[in-house]
Amino acid sequence: MSELKGFDALFSLEGKTALVTGGSRGLGLHMATAFLRSGCSLVIITARKREGEQGIDQAVDKLNKLPGIKGKAVGIAANVANTEDILRLTGEVKTLVGDRGLSILVCNAGAAWGSPFLEAPSSSSIKILDLNVRGVFELVQKSVPLMEASASKHDPSRVLIISSTAGTNVPHVGDHGTIMYSTSKAAVNHLGRNLAVELGPRNITTNIIAPGFFPSKLAQGLINNLGGIEELSKDNPVGRLGEAEDIAGVAVFLCSRAGGYVNGVDIAVDGAARLSAGRLSRL
Ligand SMILES: NC(=O)c1ccc[n+]([C@@H]2O[C@H](COP(=O)([O-])OP(=O)(O)OC[C@H]3O[C@@H](n4cnc5c(N)ncnc54)[C@H](OP(=O)(O)O)[C@@H]3O)[C@@H](O)[C@H]2O)c1
Repeated sequence: MSELKGFDALFSLEGKTALVTGGSRGLGLHMATAFLRSGCSLVIITARKREGEQGIDQAVDKLNKLPGIKGKAVGIAANVANTEDILRLTGEVKTLVGDRGLSILVCNAGAAWGSPFLEAPSSSSIKILDLNVRGVFELVQKSVPLMEASASKHDPSRVLIISSTAGTNVPHVGDHGTIMYSTSKAAVNHLGRNLAVELGPRNITTNIIAPGFFPSKLAQGLINNLGGIEELSKDNPVGRLGEAEDIAGVAVFLCSRAGGYVNGVDIAVDGAARLSAGRLSRL
């Protein structure tokens, strides 16, 4: 028999603090929900819009009404592609977390652009690279002092970067090409690997989650262009698109003690769609 120390709490996030960018909807809201339900004492979500159906306030309301949670959710409006906003955000996070420090940072907010290569305006490339790559670099950089404060060798603080399987394959060229999006995700994957080595000695791990298609505001246009959820599900080796629990499960694992020694990996959450050759795989 092996003695597995604290096995009952291996996947618990009891008492941890988290910041989730793009937490007002989609994958960010799924992960924020999972963090609170796994025992986090504080989950801070950030996005640009405060009000409305897709805004921060409605998400914070929903999070704080989750049954059985001990912690609470707080929202801060900020554009995480903007250096001044990142500085203000990390300042506000510091006040909120206090001596606890920041245990989990999820860099999830992202932007996509679809168009023929020859028609993509430079503004689309600037927007994508600023948010998907440079903003992640700066947010992690400014968060390091807060994350070191809560970290130890056996329970490091965790950075999760939400990338995409588009960072390793070439999913869409032509009329609905997403070339700069795909390139930005390849760049942020390598940023994650660099951070894993740079920040490991400070007791901060960095891992990358690479989702395939999950229905969301960001993905809806592309899903429709490719024939809709049913059609895309047929192309997936496991016959479906991603669901809330799929991303929540991987995020909780990576942020819990169970994932404490995992550093610098890229976990695809796509049912192996990235490995299949689309229609040819059905022959
Ligand atoms: N859904 C998929 O199929 C899929 C697949 C692969 C990868 N991903 C990746 O997963 C991440 C989340 O995507 P999603 O599908 O959940 O998208 P989503 O539902 O459109 O949510 C995006 C979130 O990011 C926020 N956001 C956008 N720009 C921001 C900015 N400049 N500063 C701060 N917050 C910002 C949005 O709120 P505001 O608009 O109010 O700012 C929203 O909360 C992205 O990085 C995306 O590339 C998604």
